Amino acid sequence: MSQQASKQRAAEAALELLPERGIIGLGSGSTAALFIDGVGRLVQAGRQLVGVPTSEASRQQALRLGIPLLDDAGPWDLDVCVDGADEVSAALDLIKGGGGCHAREKIVNEHARLNVIVVDDTKLSRRLGEQWPVPVEVLPFGAQATLERLRRLGPTELRRRDGAPWRTDSGNLIFDVKTGPIDDPAQLDARLLAIPGVVETGLFVGRAQLVLVAGAAGVRRLERA
Ligand code: 5RP
Repeated sequence: MSQQASKQRAAEAALELLPERGIIGLGSGSTAALFIDGVGRLVQAGRQLVGVPTSEASRQQALRLGIPLLDDAGPWDLDVCVDGADEVSAALDLIKGGGGCHAREKIVNEHARLNVIVVDDTKLSRRLGEQWPVPVEVLPFGAQATLERLRRLGPTELRRRDGAPWRTDSGNLIFDVKTGPIDDPAQLDARLLAIPGVVETGLFVGRAQLVLVAGAAGVRRLERA
């Protein structure tokens, strides 16, 4: 089974969890986009679902599909948020931010009663950091000074696109910190957040209640104890 087909399966499994009516967090990335396509189909069929998008891309997709959206400022009381991830550990902690949307994603995640992560089985690791660096969103002001602090935690690169610094939806920069395998993600998250200039990290510790992992054998449900 292709990775794309696995993503589709995971997204479809998440659609089955949605209430008849409710407020849904719309994640970002290619797997979340497949989920949003499905939400669009449900809305067109009459399901009373309202979304909170976690990125400008997700917002544009939702608007194209006719999914009603709540105001950006909140507050929101989300029934469920469905999002992707770049890496999922055995403890169901996550690295997110491959698309640079993790700051908004973490805000929306915080306000959902149920957080569901949809991934294909290539995303599973024993420990976070085995496959991915940790994306860190940083204010442009003092970025080189913040970089110098981040480099104390591992080799760190400014994320670029077409040679130019990548900008998040909020106009900030992304530094990818290659920590290697992480023993204590919560402690690393706290250390990163203590650096002035850091807006948010891509470490999601204790933030996924249910991970739907799709592969050739079907969809597995991994639940936080
Ligand atoms: C964006 C994210 C995405 O959810 C993550 O990068 C996974 O994306 P994909 O489903 O395309 O593999 O965190 O910031």
